[in-house]
Amino acid sequence: MNGDITQSQEWAALGKHHEELAGRQLRELFAEDPGRAGRMTVTAGDLFLDYAKQRATGETIDLLVALAERVGLRERIAAMFGGEHINVSEDRAVLHVALRLPRSAELVVDGQDVVADVHAVLEKMSAFADRVRSKEWKGATGKPIETVVNIGIGGSDLGPAMAYEALRDYADAGVAARFVSNIDPADITGNLAGLDPATTLFVVSSKTFTTLETLTNARVARAWLVEALGEDAVSKHFVAVSTNAAKVAEFGIDTDNMFGFWDWVGGRYSYDGAIGLSLMIAIGPERFREMLAGFHTIDEHFRTAPFEANMPVLMGLLGIWYNDFFGAETRAVLPYSQRLHRFPAYLQQLTMESNGKSVRADGTPVPVATGEIFWGEPGTNGQHAFYQLLHQGTRLVPADFIGFAEPFEDREGMHDQLTANLLAQTSALAFGKTADEIAAEGTPPEIVPHKVMPGNRPTSTILAPKLTPSTLGQLVALYEHIVFVEGTIWGIDSFDQWGVELGKKMALDLAPALTSEDPPTGLPDASTEQLVRRYRELRG
Ligand code: F6P
Repeated sequence: MNGDITQSQEWAALGKHHEELAGRQLRELFAEDPGRAGRMTVTAGDLFLDYAKQRATGETIDLLVALAERVGLRERIAAMFGGEHINVSEDRAVLHVALRLPRSAELVVDGQDVVADVHAVLEKMSAFADRVRSKEWKGATGKPIETVVNIGIGGSDLGPAMAYEALRDYADAGVAARFVSNIDPADITGNLAGLDPATTLFVVSSKTFTTLETLTNARVARAWLVEALGEDAVSKHFVAVSTNAAKVAEFGIDTDNMFGFWDWVGGRYSYDGAIGLSLMIAIGPERFREMLAGFHTIDEHFRTAPFEANMPVLMGLLGIWYNDFFGAETRAVLPYSQRLHRFPAYLQQLTMESNGKSVRADGTPVPVATGEIFWGEPGTNGQHAFYQLLHQGTRLVPADFIGFAEPFEDREGMHDQLTANLLAQTSALAFGKTADEIAAEGTPPEIVPHKVMPGNRPTSTILAPKLTPSTLGQLVALYEHIVFVEGTIWGIDSFDQWGVELGKKMALDLAPALTSEDPPTGLPDASTEQLVRRYRELRG
């Protein structure tokens, strides 16, 4: 839709419906409609979504779907999959979905045979990964590689780091991965500790190959290696992943050992391409391709399923429902899987760098709140930390719970305990416990208010058979498309990130003032100047 979505009759209808539904309790909705739980589910690939515990009815879904139709979501999905330049502020196609197209697919965009190029890179990555895994690739002293250190930041770190943690049970070739991102020297120092330069391979991952943190860490790593093994060792211990061959060569990495991608892959959407090289080395090309197939399953579901049975569409629309009609500011993502402990951090970049915008694609202001704040921790750790606020606090925090039927390896029935906790939490959040119920247990009257569990706290539960490369790919694709749905409703460009540029430039401008002998001048404001003086005093 061109124009202000909040002026549409679909938005107004949702506003009215919200007034009617906001005072209703999930207890009532379940009592009135015995078929509710059975109906409010969707299956996509191996993912089963139960959204019966959402503060929504069939009418809510109908109205939200009408809103999606109104903004032309169907056409926008087709435009993305077709390679149109939907990243308008950078005039680029947005084609992360092409990274997982099967070889038999056809897609030519801007004169480029995208499928052939994607598979050529995948093959190059696979051949290299196999050489490292089979120990055919040797370091400068003839020893095989035991540790791969990915140096990157943002999308060039969070994706492979999250996925390596998620899939570390599948790392079967005796090659471990580490991830260095922060310009804080503690990061690289900590990660180099205990490593043998002779058995370490650095993968310098940067789409632009201009990112300060990455290039600085890469220089430190290079110096560490050269000190131990000499300059000639670099070609055996450094490879690069980038779109910028000239900068890779300038850094001193042989471009034969560079794995490329394209400007139509956003950094935060890139770990299923060459940015996933460290992951591929750890888990192997076959597992990596299983992950890509998982992504593709959800891509196809998103592209073809009717909206009322389309998991990313429903979850994205429910995000709009809470964000813009209930005024919820955050969404908790709570994986009941220790292996997914970096998943919320990964989602923070994916969702917030994508949808943390206040103007629409045409440059006009967005009239409503955008960009849900994503956060979370694995259950049950979160239960013993912040769930108190979820249960009894004054804020509404919709939450996605993620669970798996089968563990990689169980011990003494622990996995069932884990799942029992997930199910107990969502039920307690939805249905709570009334004052009468608490009093009936013999609780003293003055204590009853403290123990009341208000309930009516909305959750979705995603259940999958097992955390595998495929189901991980499915989960990531699900959230990528949730971001797309929300961004489309808000009419924003979810694929640029101009908001991070100013701070980066200012840090470069500011850095000399921290070490200069001269009194600080030209600093942006009085508070910053005062802090620079204080820092210099403290540094001595
Ligand atoms: O933080 C901004 C950003 O551009 C991210 O979008 C990106 O993932 C990250 O920096 C790293 O960029 P690069 O891969 O070019 O080093």
